[in-house]
Amino acid sequence: MTTAPTARKGAVGTARTRVEGRDKVTGAARYAAEIPFAGLAHGWLVLSTVARGRIRSLETAEVLAMPGVLAVLHHGNAPRLNTDYIGLLGVPPDPTCTVFQHDRVPFVGWPVALVVAETPEQAREAAEALVVRYEEEPYDIAFTADRPDAYPVGGRMPAVTGKGDLAAGLAASAVVVDAQYTTPEEYHHPMEPHAATARWDGGRLEVVDSNQGATWVVGELANLFSLDPASVRVRSEHVGGGFGSKGVRAHQVAAVMAATLLQRPVRVVLTRRQMFSLAGYRSPTIQRLRLGADTDGRLRALEHDSLSHTSTVHEFVEPSTGATRVMYDADAHHTANRVVRLDVPTPTWMRAPGEAPGSFALEAALDELAEKCGIDPIELRVRNEPERGPVSGLPFSTRNLIACFREGARRFGWADRDPRPGLRREGRWLLGTGTAAASFPVMAMPSTAAVTAEADGSFTVRISAADIGTGARTALTQVAADALEVAPDRVRVRIGDSDFGPAMIAGGSMGTRSWSWAITAAAGELRERLVPGAAVPPEGITVRSDTTEAVGALAQMERHSFGAQFAEVAVDVATGEVRVRRMLGVFAAGRIINPLTARGQFTGGMIWGISMALHEEAVRDRASGGHYGADLAAYHVATHADVPHIEADWIDDPDPHDPVGIKGIGEIGIVGAAAAVANAVWHATGVRHRSLPIRPDRVI
Ligand code: MOS
Repeated sequence: MTTAPTARKGAVGTARTRVEGRDKVTGAARYAAEIPFAGLAHGWLVLSTVARGRIRSLETAEVLAMPGVLAVLHHGNAPRLNTDYIGLLGVPPDPTCTVFQHDRVPFVGWPVALVVAETPEQAREAAEALVVRYEEEPYDIAFTADRPDAYPVGGRMPAVTGKGDLAAGLAASAVVVDAQYTTPEEYHHPMEPHAATARWDGGRLEVVDSNQGATWVVGELANLFSLDPASVRVRSEHVGGGFGSKGVRAHQVAAVMAATLLQRPVRVVLTRRQMFSLAGYRSPTIQRLRLGADTDGRLRALEHDSLSHTSTVHEFVEPSTGATRVMYDADAHHTANRVVRLDVPTPTWMRAPGEAPGSFALEAALDELAEKCGIDPIELRVRNEPERGPVSGLPFSTRNLIACFREGARRFGWADRDPRPGLRREGRWLLGTGTAAASFPVMAMPSTAAVTAEADGSFTVRISAADIGTGARTALTQVAADALEVAPDRVRVRIGDSDFGPAMIAGGSMGTRSWSWAITAAAGELRERLVPGAAVPPEGITVRSDTTEAVGALAQMERHSFGAQFAEVAVDVATGEVRVRRMLGVFAAGRIINPLTARGQFTGGMIWGISMALHEEAVRDRASGGHYGADLAAYHVATHADVPHIEADWIDDPDPHDPVGIKGIGEIGIVGAAAAVANAVWHATGVRHRSLPIRPDRVI
């Protein structure tokens, strides 16, 4: 059979159900903890019950005598790891993941042992029976605005930016907003808990895992165990959510240790409760905003200071002022991301890290400024549109923020809004509407892909991408089909296997963009190589691509997606309950590959914003250093009943410097969403709520 591509384009931009959707709803799709292995043993992690101190003893003899128990791994017998390296994301490994290397305990829920047994039940029973004695030390979990030990931290951006005289700018301003905003500890627990099975197979380490990037996990494991990356294979075909939490964690490392020691496959699954200390979370933030403006709303001075916390063992900063450096300019413009080290678990990237809490503070402060100036909140933003990046001075590749506001305002009915607060009443409900801006950086990272023309006329794409529930596999199928100029049903996209070569992780809203770039490059070259009418050999014809150079050649610009969020709320004057009645988000986020799954990405983020505004909050117990109720019964998240009417749409905004026009849509949906809800609560009640979540007891 010949494989001259039929001239057909048009998959990109059409709504398509997931190519693996049927497998997922019928149960045929298997997740990491469901894949069977012969001779499988099960590991159960034992976590510290004290917030700081030293392990004095582990009484392993009794536990080793229990039924089915094969081993107890701990700091006294575990293999030594190499932890002296910088990983794929540019940071050293978090010691929480490099398990059992010493006897120190830096927080409640720190991994102190792994009990391995024939069955998960035996492992769990033995793990719960293991007596661990500690030398306890005083601990400090006090996250307060006035910590003298807080310090600025960069990470993926400068820690501090500044220009102009802030004091002078504020003094010269006719209108000043000076307010503190706080957000609590928030957790990104995917539906599928973290799980990994490790085994040695013919001299290679194989890990079947649930992660956001096989390349990432291979790199970390190869470094930690001093292995040639080529001798490590990580597979992760279906992933039930990630949101930033699914990188290398304690369970993969513990599973590899145990599989090495026992020379049989070992599976370690985190429980929901264990995820609260081992899978990362969003740090609480305390943010101060100072805005100074003329009476016409034009900003003269802007200061945004954000404090977050991290553990004593690993430095992670929540970069909450990132969006402020892009959104609004002022002659005096100062931002800082600071951190304080406490005896708490290490936070990590959680959907729209920085932008999510930062946009709550920034966009709520803008709303307060609009009120003080007597200007419509959308008009205030129009008047403060910067020509160039306020901090970088670089031009924007595209900036369609105002177009999003205009389209959103039209659809939401914003023009009819009476700006005065506390006026609309419907029975026991006060009604209000609010808006906020959204933005998220647009980036791409090098990836490799292989595209094969098969002898039967079909095409196979191999890329170490991860579909963490976003629909990425389907989007990549559409992108490949268009690049090959064939119908999507002739294209099979295989992902989630590190043997396909290095590729970007599903993260930073740049997975689909980075992978599509590599697929487009390989597919384009393959199409040129295929001779119409010529037969394809049985092994097929394969073209590989590597986008390292192309991505590296991107000129420095301010590259972002933008959006406008709108919310209508009703506030119960008797109970203080806030109900969101409707929500609309309009985004300028590049070319949309699949409207069906893209809408799910946007509304998923927006619902998370409602959740952030009204529900989510993990509370630490000062008496133990741990949480009250570390489970999804105590940690409230928004459900269907909390979202009666939600719409997301977009305007035409192809990225001019991307081969497909993609920008990335994974995170922007949550940005600004909580502020839109909080601003609507003010409009309903006349009261500003600057601490999230806006619980009934805070409203009353
Ligand atoms: Mo995301 S927080 O970039 O997985």
